[in-house]
Amino acid sequence: MTHRLHLRRILLAAGAALPLASALAASEDAAMLKLASSSGCMSCHHVERGAKGPDGLPPVGPAWRDVSAKYRGQPEAEARLTATVMSGSNPYDSHWKGQASGLAMPPNRVAISEADARRLVHWIVGLERGR
Ligand code: HEC
Repeated sequence: MTHRLHLRRILLAAGAALPLASALAASEDAAMLKLASSSGCMSCHHVERGAKGPDGLPPVGPAWRDVSAKYRGQPEAEARLTATVMSGSNPYDSHWKGQASGLAMPPNRVAISEADARRLVHWIVGLERGR
């Protein structure tokens, strides 16, 4: 799975005595991927673009790099996205028509705390910044 490969690359990079800033970024990447996996997000989302969902359809939810490209530079979007993660998205107002095969995101509040969701959304929105 793509996110597992990505995690291994990050862990390798973290072991290679990088400058402090990128080592800290790498440990945040690892922590956020772990949180996303244990919260069930990765059953519908991938970090990287181009991954397919079941039956070769687009993935169930949008790639998180696409989410970042759409909302980066809009810090006010993070509160709204956190609320969407907690309470689910509106199937009559899809933001990802044609790019995701899922009709809507179900509420995730049984799987993740609001504080963790906020931290994860902040990391997702920042994915495309300076990488
Ligand atoms: C059962 C499948 C599923 C799960 C589990 C899931 N998502 Fe989603 N997610 C979706 C779908 C489908 C969309 C697209 C909604 C739309 O079209 O507006 C989406 C959209 C999003 C968006 C963008 C929302 C927007 O308004 O543009 C973010 C951010 C997101 N998910 C984060 C998460 C996080 C974080 C988790 C784990 C806590 C998670 N998702 C779990 C299916 C899922």
